[in-house]
Amino acid sequence: MTKSSNTMWGGRFADGPDAIMEAINASIGFDKRLAREDIEGSQAHAAMLAATGILSDNDAAAIREGLLTVLSEIEGGTFGFRNDLEDIHMNVEARLKEIVGDPAGRLHTARSRNDQVATDLRMWVRGQCEAAEAGLFALQRALLAQAEAGADWAMPGFTHLQVAQPVTWGHHMLAYVEMFARDRGRFADARGRMNESPLGAAALAGTSFPIDRDATAEALGFDRPMANSLDAVSARDFALEFLSAAAITAMHLSRLAEELVIWSSAQFRFVTLPDRFTTGSSIMPQKKNPDAAELIRAKIGRILGAAVGLFTVMKGLPLAYSKDMQEDKEQVFDAADALMLSLAAMEGMVRTMEANRDALRAAAATGFSTATDLADWLVREAALPFRDAHHVTGRLVAEAEARGVDLPDLDIETLKSAHPAITGRVYDVLGVDKSVASRTSYGGTAPVRVREQIAAWKERLG
Ligand code: ARG
Repeated sequence: MTKSSNTMWGGRFADGPDAIMEAINASIGFDKRLAREDIEGSQAHAAMLAATGILSDNDAAAIREGLLTVLSEIEGGTFGFRNDLEDIHMNVEARLKEIVGDPAGRLHTARSRNDQVATDLRMWVRGQCEAAEAGLFALQRALLAQAEAGADWAMPGFTHLQVAQPVTWGHHMLAYVEMFARDRGRFADARGRMNESPLGAAALAGTSFPIDRDATAEALGFDRPMANSLDAVSARDFALEFLSAAAITAMHLSRLAEELVIWSSAQFRFVTLPDRFTTGSSIMPQKKNPDAAELIRAKIGRILGAAVGLFTVMKGLPLAYSKDMQEDKEQVFDAADALMLSLAAMEGMVRTMEANRDALRAAAATGFSTATDLADWLVREAALPFRDAHHVTGRLVAEAEARGVDLPDLDIETLKSAHPAITGRVYDVLGVDKSVASRTSYGGTAPVRVREQIAAWKERLG
């Protein structure tokens, strides 16, 4: 093959197979994000090697000082990352060698990059579980503040996005507080399960050196060492749990985002979103677009995509380590970034949006939203079977619709013509406020129940 035809597809790989191999093999472009965890892991490993007599105290001291220098170079932005050194582990070790010389070569005793990378990524994901929990916690507090401000504000409750029954704003906000509580629980559970140390599993089989895995586990904040060295280097279910929890959270965020998009439209006007989370249109001066909400609504795409991506990478991999697993990191990084940004943006929007009490109330009274209250009244006060009450109410809804009015606007003669047992007392339940106040069953939308829930959540969220 001539050189000119190679450049047709070769492009940046015109230098030949070595350059192609380096490009496909190197992970430093993204795994540099594990630098801090990598160095912490090496510090714990070196200290353990010294404590067990595998490494001399002098060598351990040189390594400790050298790693501190490497970390400060990386965090100060002066570190020269090299693609030919493949990944963060070898970049750190090579620089350590330049700084401290021979002792650097002893750091990798009783260790492999396989247990090293598993340890680094576990620590990184563990931190992201904590960040997700904190982000969710802040969002819950913002939702709770909204719930408290409008605990008894009537609004339409929807099914099929058709007005169904009146609910309260506080109740609607608390629905999301509950969802995000479960999401928080999923990250906490995942964090607890992943908090075991792979370090010391070495390449796959353990090591003949007298290492102390309890010591390194403890130094790195793990609860215990992983019990099986093959599992330790092979497992990525911790990352999949994180991505799964992230996908569920992103799904919940997308539902709330969608409601904000709908609610902020001119047709609804339920909420006014803060200017800083919206944009104007370059051509239509009246526009205020809910871009942040739309982007949060969309982030599920890449977050769930990352989960599906990593599941697909891991499916069918034989034990123990395979290089396929290097493909775990970008999925995890990208999903974590998207999730944290979404949580921050949603928290900011929810905290500063303004609910329009009057628009909520006006909408609550549309769509014959108290029809169920009329049917329930017929069951309670006139002893009708619910199916018959449903039928009578349906006739009255049709009548009101034909006249272009709402149920409370029908006169008593019209009501009686649908069923003789109806009396003027029925008007008591046809109002929106009476309707929501009557829904006092546990978990119901009545302000009295909502205030109890708000009080309970204030206890829990502080
Ligand atoms: N960069 C590699 C990864 O991310 C580190 C582990 C390499 N191990 C190996 N045996 N080549 O998975």
